[in-house]
Amino acid sequence: MIIIIKEDYEELSISAFRELESRIKKKSKMVLGLATGSTLLGLYQNLATVSDLDFSSIVTFNLDEYIGIDPNDPRSYNFFMQENLFSKINIPEKNVFIPYGLVHNAERHCEWYEKEIEKRGGIDFQVLGIGGNGHIGFNEPGSSFNSVTRVVDLSEKTRNDNAKFFDNINEVPKQAITMGMKTIMASKEAMLLASGANKAEIIKKALKGPITEDVPASILQNHPNLTVILDKEASQNL
Ligand code: F6R
Repeated sequence: MIIIIKEDYEELSISAFRELESRIKKKSKMVLGLATGSTLLGLYQNLATVSDLDFSSIVTFNLDEYIGIDPNDPRSYNFFMQENLFSKINIPEKNVFIPYGLVHNAERHCEWYEKEIEKRGGIDFQVLGIGGNGHIGFNEPGSSFNSVTRVVDLSEKTRNDNAKFFDNINEVPKQAITMGMKTIMASKEAMLLASGANKAEIIKKALKGPITEDVPASILQNHPNLTVILDKEASQNL
């Protein structure tokens, strides 16, 4: 594991951008795993504006999506990705995969998603953020390290954390589709980003604590090729 500590969020975002840029320049046909969340905004902004990178042969798989939210709803993860990245780069629509929140047969959809990843040889480079409870994607505490893409119940902590994007807590979906822990760990390379003092405690647990399903991100300690980029505040307990 390589840990890079940057002064602030802006520097963290540039550093994450440089890491990803160098991988894309090496492999133009890469399969990229993407996350949503406020931590990722700076990276996506850099990818969309600073760079003249060619995304025409890149395929992306997003980690997760709420169940019951229309992909065009501004609160969906699909909307977040279109708004903050995909509409600003030259990636073909057919190369973008995000779980579909209004799916009728969610189980079959998850199996299909997993197969689409497999068909392309797995994820080359997985971008990750971390939740206050240690979740990655929507793999909440207690998620099996053997899990693959599936339907999950969201924890009360995650629903409360995300309530700011909804009118009230009752509107926050109770379920989501997420790529599994095993799928994430099968990525050839991964990059975890965390910013701010409110992530300091969970970053310490995830990177230095015991590897346990109670802290999903702790399994990343076993990832063969992981880069962690933190700002000073997020690293303060290490
Ligand atoms: C969502 C995802 C989550 C978020 C995490 C951090 O696709 O993968 O793990 O990255 O909840 O969210 P922020 O950055 O908003 O604190």
